[in-house]
Amino acid sequence: MSATNKIISEPDSDFLLAGSRFVRACLRKPVDRTPVWFLRQAGRYMAEYREVRKHHTLVEICKQPELAAEVTITAAEKLGVDAAIIFADLLLPLEPMGLDFEFQAGEGPVVHRPLRTAEDVRALRTDRAGDLEYVARAIEKVAGHFRDRLGIIGFCGAPYTLASYMIEGGGSRNYIETKKLMYGSPAAWAMLLDKIVLVLTEYCRQQVQAGADVIQIFDSWVGSLSLSDYKDYAFEASKRLVRAVQAMGVPVIYFGVETAGLLGEMAVTGADVIGLDWRQPLDVGWNAVGHTRAVQGNLDPITLFAPPEILEIRVREILQAAAGRPGHIFNLGHGIVPGTPVENVQAVAKIVREFRLEGSGLQTSGSEAVHD
Ligand code: CP3
Repeated sequence: MSATNKIISEPDSDFLLAGSRFVRACLRKPVDRTPVWFLRQAGRYMAEYREVRKHHTLVEICKQPELAAEVTITAAEKLGVDAAIIFADLLLPLEPMGLDFEFQAGEGPVVHRPLRTAEDVRALRTDRAGDLEYVARAIEKVAGHFRDRLGIIGFCGAPYTLASYMIEGGGSRNYIETKKLMYGSPAAWAMLLDKIVLVLTEYCRQQVQAGADVIQIFDSWVGSLSLSDYKDYAFEASKRLVRAVQAMGVPVIYFGVETAGLLGEMAVTGADVIGLDWRQPLDVGWNAVGHTRAVQGNLDPITLFAPPEILEIRVREILQAAAGRPGHIFNLGHGIVPGTPVENVQAVAKIVREFRLEGSGLQTSGSEAVHD
């Protein structure tokens, strides 16, 4: 072992490995600099991914651990980030529960026979979470590759968001079918969320046992709920899932979109980190979450199309708003979209890596030049 390796393996050293820097920030422990990764960091904006996609469907990539690991590793290494999110999809658990779906070009996911009745909910299976083991096998490969060099993120959908996919059958504008079942058949709704939590808990357990350091729960559609509806129909199931995953010994990141009015309540789930979307300033979101939680975010992903000067201003604004407080993970406020210039994503990662807050005792160590 070299002298350098020896130093960086000390947990409290200033020279933190990226993986531990990321996990420490999730737990609001001091770090040498702000960790960074990007929502949807592996995907169609990247030429390497498009090349793999020429030969395989999305689901084929997810189901072949070798390919899923390769796509995950390539993206993380190319971007110079502190964490790698496993390449998978939110909808994978639908299949073992008995709902077939496909990704149609240009249309996004389509569930062939969406749930509409209590009978449909009763027919959902919860005994086949083992079929999802291919995700855990991919995580093992990624963990074996990075060891402690990068944080490894496993993920799943939140109960409300998965339930709405199952009911709407795909994307939706008004969530009418979801809300009809939610308001009109409360027993079926409760049974549906129970079944989803059961399967997701098992799915997350596989991912944690395989080496995921952190689990992110995507509640991408939760912004369609009022605060009262969130409290009455979604919060409880999310909280149960968050607590079950934490009991496995890993921190949880809970992320949603258009959540300004929900952040305080989302924090009550007990999630270690709340993901902020990009619609309000980071410090405003963090105040709503409360400073007893870490936050992740929150650059508008479309800013990645801006000229470098503008991009840098927006990135630094977010870092200034975090003010060197322990518990900020830099990220986007939603996923990278196709067509995003890869070099701009790399530039953002570099700005974050090199940023040091003036006068801060917490994040001033390290020797990378300050970027003005
Ligand atoms: O690095 C990564 O983040 C990639 C792994 C990943 C994918 N999906 C692969 C994927 C992750 C983290 C997801 C999560 C996911 N999937 C979410 C939550 C994230 C969010 O944005 O809120 C959601 C809502 C889904 C469901 C889903 N999957 C949709 C709506 C779509 C269509 C999107 C589109 O633009 O067509 C997908 C397809 C999908 N999942 C793609 C990728 C890379 C693109 C399609 C392809 O390669 O053919």
